[in-house]
Amino acid sequence: MTQLKHLDNSPPTPGKFKMDKSPYIHRLRWHGSLAKLTFWSFIFLGLILIFFFRSPSSNSLPSDPSRRSLRTYNWGGPAWEKRVRSSARVRSRHGMSVLVTGAAGFVGTHVSAALKRRGDGVLGLDCFNDYYDPSLKRARQALLERSGVFIVEGDINDSALLSKLFEVVAFTHVMHLAAQAGVRYAMENPGSYVHSNIAGLVNLLEVCKNANPQPAIVWASSSSVYGLNTKVPFSERDRTDQPASLYAATKKAGEEIAHTYNHIYGLSLTGLRFFTVYGPWGRPDMAYFFFTRDILKGKTIPIFEAANHGTVARDFTYIDDIVKGCLASLDTAEKSTGSGGKKKGPAQLRVFNLGNTSPVPVSDLVTILERLLKVKAKRNIMKLPRNGDVPFTHANISSAQRELGYKPTTDLQTGLKKFVRWYVSYYSGGKKASG
Ligand SMILES: NC(=O)c1ccc[n+]([C@@H]2O[C@H](COP(=O)([O-])OP(=O)(O)OC[C@H]3O[C@@H](n4cnc5c(N)ncnc54)[C@H](O)[C@@H]3O)[C@@H](O)[C@H]2O)c1
Ligand SMILES: *[C@@H]1O[C@H](CO)[C@@H](O)[C@H](O)[C@H]1NC(C)=O
Ligand SMILES: *[C@@H]1O[C@H](CO)[C@@H](O)[C@H](O)[C@H]1NC(C)=O
Repeated sequence: MTQLKHLDNSPPTPGKFKMDKSPYIHRLRWHGSLAKLTFWSFIFLGLILIFFFRSPSSNSLPSDPSRRSLRTYNWGGPAWEKRVRSSARVRSRHGMSVLVTGAAGFVGTHVSAALKRRGDGVLGLDCFNDYYDPSLKRARQALLERSGVFIVEGDINDSALLSKLFEVVAFTHVMHLAAQAGVRYAMENPGSYVHSNIAGLVNLLEVCKNANPQPAIVWASSSSVYGLNTKVPFSERDRTDQPASLYAATKKAGEEIAHTYNHIYGLSLTGLRFFTVYGPWGRPDMAYFFFTRDILKGKTIPIFEAANHGTVARDFTYIDDIVKGCLASLDTAEKSTGSGGKKKGPAQLRVFNLGNTSPVPVSDLVTILERLLKVKAKRNIMKLPRNGDVPFTHANISSAQRELGYKPTTDLQTGLKKFVRWYVSYYSGGKKASG
């Protein structure tokens, strides 16, 4: 299985796959929205089935986050509330008070630190699951703690905890980054996608809807929703009805759920479709990260190619650019318009691509890493397995450019140099890379 853990796990996306020619897709085209509705009904039905057939006793994987949700977290009490309040306290004049879910994650850590730096109030929430090495999440937590950000340990599907947080702090914004990421993990633990990306998201939106005042919500979708699209670059209006993985399906479902809460309850919602984010403190399950580890170890790395020796490429986006896009989204988010379960008027609903707009072949990524690490990689060219990865991603960012002033400035060479510098220093302190 490890050799299949290849490309970056997260933003799987699209390209020139033959599946595009299948009769099924043609039918979709002819029957338009009816077929689309049927299609999504099936996806939802599937998710519900997966959800219900996974009884806790039927799965004893120690790394199953759904089981972990049965774990009781320690929260509550005057000392805890004091820490929560102090972390969320706004320190600049027009600052906001933000709940950041997934704060011990890669993107969550960087966004939390950036918000705190400019004087916003920040409270983190994370369950520290072991989808990848939890010690890396703990190290990020320690980093945030030093800058005054407290991460509450708990699950986004815990409604009592979320309600309590909103009782203690009147958050003006929620930056929702907690999710089950990665595409290949679905073979091992499909329920974790339902738990975090569907049930957890609904729970979060329910609590936000009930909060008074309601916060504005910015959340991470994924470029994977473009699925097996062949039209590039991907624009926000392009079709998103051909997911290539359960991960992508839950992100797409999340977008539909978010729209629903916007329509019915007046929640202000902004969905961000990230394209292969990389950088210091990154995710060990992603290709750039474990390529670095394996090249240094002298281990052979699998490099995928698409059908007919086609190139597999990714629109790699440096973390600092993503952070700027997240902060700009929060800054331009309008207030939610509902209260008491009813909306008083239409609320803002947005979706943006946050990419770099220049796809790089994965073999070029390896060449850059070889140069930075001064080690030659042992390459094993393999066919791209049909288990969730897509051959190609490329973002059209004109919408984010126009409305957020988003403009990525870090190219892959520059960004990888910073990643490698971090990697070497982090793992030379006696710590071992794992995953
Ligand atoms: N990194 C990328 O390239 C990329 C690309 C597209 C989309 N995204 C999305 O961006 C978001 C952040 O991604 P990341 O790369 O930082 O991933 P990450 O795995 O590093 O961070 C997610 C964090 O959420 C936490 N979490 C998961 N389920 C939870 C739950 N039920 N309750 C509380 N905490 C929970 C995890 O412990 C983890 O720390 C995710 O929604 C991901 O799907 C990331
Ligand atoms: C999420 O929480 C709800 C309500 O507490 C619970 O019934 C459900 O089992 C949880 N869902 C998952 C997938 O863990
Ligand atoms: C990018 O998206 C915009 C809409 O936001 C569209 O007008 C434009 O034509 C797209 N560009 C390309 C090259 O597809």
